[in-house]
Amino acid sequence: MDDSTLDFTSSLDVDSKMAFYDVMGSLAHVRMLKKCDILPPEDVDRIIEGLKAILKEIEEGTFELDYKLEDIHTNIEFSLTERIGPAGGKLHTGRSRNDQVAVDFRMYLRDRALKAASALGGIITSLLDVAEKNPDTIMPGFTHMQHAQPVTLAQHMLAYVFKFSRDADRFLDAFERMDKCPLGSAALAGTTYPIDRFMTAELLGFREPTENSMDSVSDRDFVNELSFCAAQTQIHLSSLCEELVLWSSQEFGFVEMDDKYTTGSSIMPQKKNPDIAELVRGKTGGVVGSLMTMLVMTKGLPLTYNRDLQEDKKPVMDSMDTVIYCLQIMAKVISTTTFRKDRMMEVTSRGQINATDLADYLVTKGIPFREAHAIVGAAVRESIESGVNLEDMPLDKLRTFSDRIEKDVYDFITVRRCAERRESYGGTAPSSTDVQISKAIEQLMKREEIVRQETQLIENCWKNLLE
Ligand code: ARG
Repeated sequence: MDDSTLDFTSSLDVDSKMAFYDVMGSLAHVRMLKKCDILPPEDVDRIIEGLKAILKEIEEGTFELDYKLEDIHTNIEFSLTERIGPAGGKLHTGRSRNDQVAVDFRMYLRDRALKAASALGGIITSLLDVAEKNPDTIMPGFTHMQHAQPVTLAQHMLAYVFKFSRDADRFLDAFERMDKCPLGSAALAGTTYPIDRFMTAELLGFREPTENSMDSVSDRDFVNELSFCAAQTQIHLSSLCEELVLWSSQEFGFVEMDDKYTTGSSIMPQKKNPDIAELVRGKTGGVVGSLMTMLVMTKGLPLTYNRDLQEDKKPVMDSMDTVIYCLQIMAKVISTTTFRKDRMMEVTSRGQINATDLADYLVTKGIPFREAHAIVGAAVRESIESGVNLEDMPLDKLRTFSDRIEKDVYDFITVRRCAERRESYGGTAPSSTDVQISKAIEQLMKREEIVRQETQLIENCWKNLLE
């Protein structure tokens, strides 16, 4: 090969991140070859010893990569043969790099999916903490970025809790689907050796082997799916960050972020910039781009392995790293942010945010909602023109809009009562956010248990393989 060809076709820079998994895959493969009497036990024992020595160097960071060899898989195999002699050449019996890459990549991403689910648990916990402390902190709820109805800070935080809960569910769903082992599919058609794919699947902690060899070496659904999971999570993060940026502005003043998580300006001494939130928002472009890269790259590929598929790793590895990092840092940002309750209340009390409730009040007095809506519309116009809030208008003024209005209206339309009365399932009232908090904690604990069990199972496999 020409040097530039070598350089162009190499994937070592990226796939060396899968070195650990490559060794594990090989350890499982040779144990199976031994049990199925495909390789003599003494060769297998030598191979295992050689692989363990290589793993030790990988973990210590001393394993030398030869850039003349295309990828991590070839590097490890060649290094093995250098160490133990011709027996090393037997490792690749009954497999191909096509199924080897597929299994390594699944193992790598399986771990990242669990890590993402647990990082989501971290941010959910931070948000839940704010919700628990603020069941009666009143703030404006927005639609179209306009004051809509009073809500509680708990309700606002819980909205994100459930978005992130779905993201975590999605990662675990994707995990479940990718939890099948492609090893033993060989190049594309399976193999003539009497291998036991169920054994390697079990040794590597997969539920079962994949069903079809041609599908197995061409399938990158799991990559696309995780790329989407990452993109959707990052989009949720980006919305949250956008709000934090707005909320920390002088105009809103709803939050003050901790000094540890803000930056200053090189020229303006008073500045306290929400850079972390902005960076998270900015990184969303790259994460969404990775998904696009994968979808376009896999479009129109014929069966089975095509070299295009070597380009599948960097985008998803980057986006998984990014999303995990962003989740971890945002969990800290949220738990150190001060929410300025007074300011939120002050802003909520301005204007006509309780207009819906005045209409609801008229409905309680027997007026059809549509008619009530029109009556309140007139009152709102008056409120805007006179600069007097609805709840501050004298009774005789209010009665010019409808004579059904009585003194009890004032209690009915305080912004606090407006929020407290929304007790419908999923509503903003404290009685309802209590239910939401319990639900979210229940879901969180269920997911944590799944992550714990799966992590344990995988770690036990590594332990057994290294025995
Ligand atoms: N470096 C390749 C990759 O990452 C390994 C598979 C090569 N297979 C092949 N038939 N050339 O996809």
